[in-house]
Order: sequence, then C-alpha cells, then structure tokens
Amino acid sequence: MTATSINFTKTLHLDKQAVIILLTEEQAKEKSLLHITGKIKAKVLEAIKSGQFKGENGEQFPLLIDGKLILLAGAGKEEGLSLTALRIIIRRALLSSFLKNISSLELLLHDSKEAAVSAAIEGCLIGTYIWKKHKTQNEKDKTAEKKTIFIVAEKKPHHEEIIKICEGVNLTRDLTNDNADIVTSDFLEKNIREIIKGKKNIQIEVLNKKELTAKGLNLHLAVNQGSTKEPKLIIVKYAGDAKDKNYTAIIGKGITFDTGGLNLKPSGSIETMRHDMAGAAAVIGTLKNTLSLASKKNIIFACAIAENAIGSRSYKPGDVIKSYAGKTVEIANTDAEGRLVLADAIAYVKKNYQPSKLIDIATLTGACSVALGNDYAAIVSTDDDLLKKLIISSKETDDRIWQLPNYAELKDSIRSQIADIKNLGFPKGVGGTITAAEFLRQFADGAKWAHLDIAGTAFVEGESRLYFGYGATGFGVRLLTHFLINS
Ligand code: BES
Ligand code: MN
Ligand code: ZN
Repeated sequence: MTATSINFTKTLHLDKQAVIILLTEEQAKEKSLLHITGKIKAKVLEAIKSGQFKGENGEQFPLLIDGKLILLAGAGKEEGLSLTALRIIIRRALLSSFLKNISSLELLLHDSKEAAVSAAIEGCLIGTYIWKKHKTQNEKDKTAEKKTIFIVAEKKPHHEEIIKICEGVNLTRDLTNDNADIVTSDFLEKNIREIIKGKKNIQIEVLNKKELTAKGLNLHLAVNQGSTKEPKLIIVKYAGDAKDKNYTAIIGKGITFDTGGLNLKPSGSIETMRHDMAGAAAVIGTLKNTLSLASKKNIIFACAIAENAIGSRSYKPGDVIKSYAGKTVEIANTDAEGRLVLADAIAYVKKNYQPSKLIDIATLTGACSVALGNDYAAIVSTDDDLLKKLIISSKETDDRIWQLPNYAELKDSIRSQIADIKNLGFPKGVGGTITAAEFLRQFADGAKWAHLDIAGTAFVEGESRLYFGYGATGFGVRLLTHFLINS
C-alpha cells in the first residue's frame, strides 16, 4: 500500500507543485550547481551563501518560488553517502511535513548515476509505504498524501524493473501487515491463484488437510492441530526455461499466527505474531516479480501455511511425531513450530520436485535478533557457491544477510532420548538460530541448501528502521528476485 507512483523527466520542468533538490556538502560548498539553472539557482545559492543550508545529511530547507515549493535536502558528505543513506534521505524528504499537501513533484538527485537513480526509486516506493488500511478516512487524511514523483533522469528499462520489484515488496508487506484472521491460508491461496491467473508455464499443487494427511506431512498437521483453519502446502512450479532441467526451490514459513501453542508466548512477544508468515509472503512477492519480469529461469515457489493456535486440540510438548521424511521428532517446545512445517515442506519439495537448489526463508528464531540485530538476516548454507551468490544479491539489493555457521557437531545439540531428533537445541539463550538451522538441514538431507532467518528483519516494531516505516519490510523479496534472475 504505497501511495506513490514514479515517472521520469529528462530535465527539470518546474511544472509540478514542488521540487526536491538533493545536494551534498561538497556541492553546497563549491556552489557548483551545474544541474540547476535560472531563478531557482539564484535562490538556492542565496540559501547556501547565507549559511542557512549546508547540505548536511538530514537537513531540509524549504524555499518558495512563485508559489512553488522547493525543498533542499542535504545529502551529507559525498564519501559517506551510501545507497542506503540515499534511500533514507529521500524517504525523509518525501514524508516531511513540507510536502504534506503536495501530490506531484519533481525529484532532482545530487547524482544521475544508474545506481543512485535505482536507489532513489526504492527510497520513493519502499520508503513511503505506510500501512493504513484500517485507519478511517479522517485519520488517513492526516498521513502523507498520494504522490506522483517525476525523477529527473533518463528513463531506462532497468528502472521499470526496479519499480516492478518494489511492487512485489509492497505486496509482501500488505500480506504480512493485515490481521491474521484476514490473511488466512485460504486468503493466501487466493492471492497466489490471482497472481498466476492466465500466466504461461505454470502449475500449482495445493495440499490441504486431506492431502497432507494422506501423504503423511504430520509435522505440518501437528502445528495446525489447534486451529480451525485449513493447513496448506502450496507449491507453484514455474518453467521459465523449458530447455533447462534444473529448478531452484524457494520455500517460505507461513505461520499465519504464532501464539506459541501450549508453550504460550508471553505479552510482549505475541503482539506482532501475525507477521510469522513473512517468509511465505516473501515467496509470494517474489513469485509476483518473477512473472512480471517474465523470468527465464525454472523456479519452485512453496508456502508452508499453518496457524500455531492454542486450545484443547493443540499438539503437546512431549509428543513424538513422524515427519514426512520418516524421521521421528520430539516436540520439546510447541513454540518451535516453524522448523516443523518447514521440515515437512522441504522434504516434500525435495522428494517430489527434485530441485537442484533449495532455499528456505523464515521468521524462525528470536535468537536471530540477539545474534545479528534487526538489520541483517542470518544465512546458513551447505553450499559455498549458493552462499556466495546469495551474498552478492544481498549486496546488490540491500536486503542484508550475514552468515552463521553449520558444522557436524551441531547434530548433537538436537538429539532426543525418545525420538530421532527434537525441535529444540542448546539451553535457552544459546545458539538458537544455528540449532534451528541444523534441524532444517537434516531434512534438506544433502541437497544444496540455504536458510534465511528473517525473524529480526521482517518487521519494524518501532517508528522506523533504515528506510522502512512501522510494520512489514518485505525483506527477502529484492534479494530472492535478484538471485533468481541472475543465477
Ligand atoms: N516465530 C517465532 C520466532 C520470532 C520471534 C519471529 C520474534 C519474529 C520475531 C518462532 O516460531 C519462535 O517462537 N521461536 C522460538 C524458538 C524457541 C522456542 C526455541 C523463539 O525464538 O523463542
Ligand atoms: Mn513459535
Ligand atoms: Zn513462529
């Protein structure tokens, strides 16, 4: 739900309600405003010469010229101006109170390089996303108005791609932000069917309770046992390249709400657990992008959807359950449910679709935030080439990932006395992300596999983080889209 749309204009026309002009400190100091001409230039120079605008990062200085708002936005020192910083600066300028009643404007960047323009598009489309579906009209009006932004730059096909990718990111955010009782497994299935409707080279398989039972995906079923909603494993097979036999599978954790089950989550941990399907939502956003970009790759998209509800029918701590893969699992904690649904999904996709690479994405462990904070997701992989490529895509897209280890001895951490393995690792507070990953690895069972733990990065609980406002970030969509197109 972004209220922003993007256009391009080769030169500044001054024919919209406002202009945002980005200037670095160097540009302000040297007064070298080569890209600005005429009346505005004189005014901007005046602001600089008077010492009132220095181009410092975060600075905003409004000018009014013939009733047109010119907002000077400081970009700081050129050296320190990363593409992330650029996205943040653009977001802040667009959401500033100066532009509150502006619906169309031009955006003049400090630099017209390709990378800067791409980052600017993301700053506009991702940065201005605000979740306000449930605000009534009066309240809605208080937040930023719908804006059409004309970026001063040559329009290139790559820009159109970035715009499409941002649409996928924001779809993922919409799915993640809404109420758990709206975004149910049925709702997600409907969304997926809508996305693939009329598209070529696509097959869908949906396993409902009946099929999950018949095929023995008992871990998935156990997690959903306390819920009145249908558990679903939804698999979309996309053949973008008929000549290639290789498929890459991406599998998302789709817990529509995680109460923790009988190991109930306490207040403070449960409130935002509607976002425990952010992995599945990222898979759906990536599916949308794959189709809108007409990718020439073969991809399997899987969403393992269940609700970890609490009630007399809920699965119990101490239960032993036989997985689809055949391994028995002791339920040491019903709140470690993500690895259970994913274990069955990974084993099912591996056996029935035989992908050459397998990537799962999941809001899996709170421990991930403890280890890495909320700006980096964890990646654990059994394949160096896959890992390397994902890290490259991460750097290209700013969906940040950092490697955590997997090693042979971790096997011991999830041994069980009554079953083959258990769904809990070391004592509380110790290595929770890597033991959860080790659990999944055992179901990937020799496949080229990578695991993305997005528990810290998928959702912003405060005011904002980087260039994301409150709520879902759509983490993983840019990363996976880039990876799937480029490797
Ligand atoms: N969905 C949670 C993980 C999570 C926590 C996601 C915070 C996003 C933000 C997961 O199912 C969970 O409950 N994990 C437990 C694992 C524990 C019981 C071993 C956790 O992190 O405490
Ligand atoms: Mn849980
Ligand atoms: Zn969970």
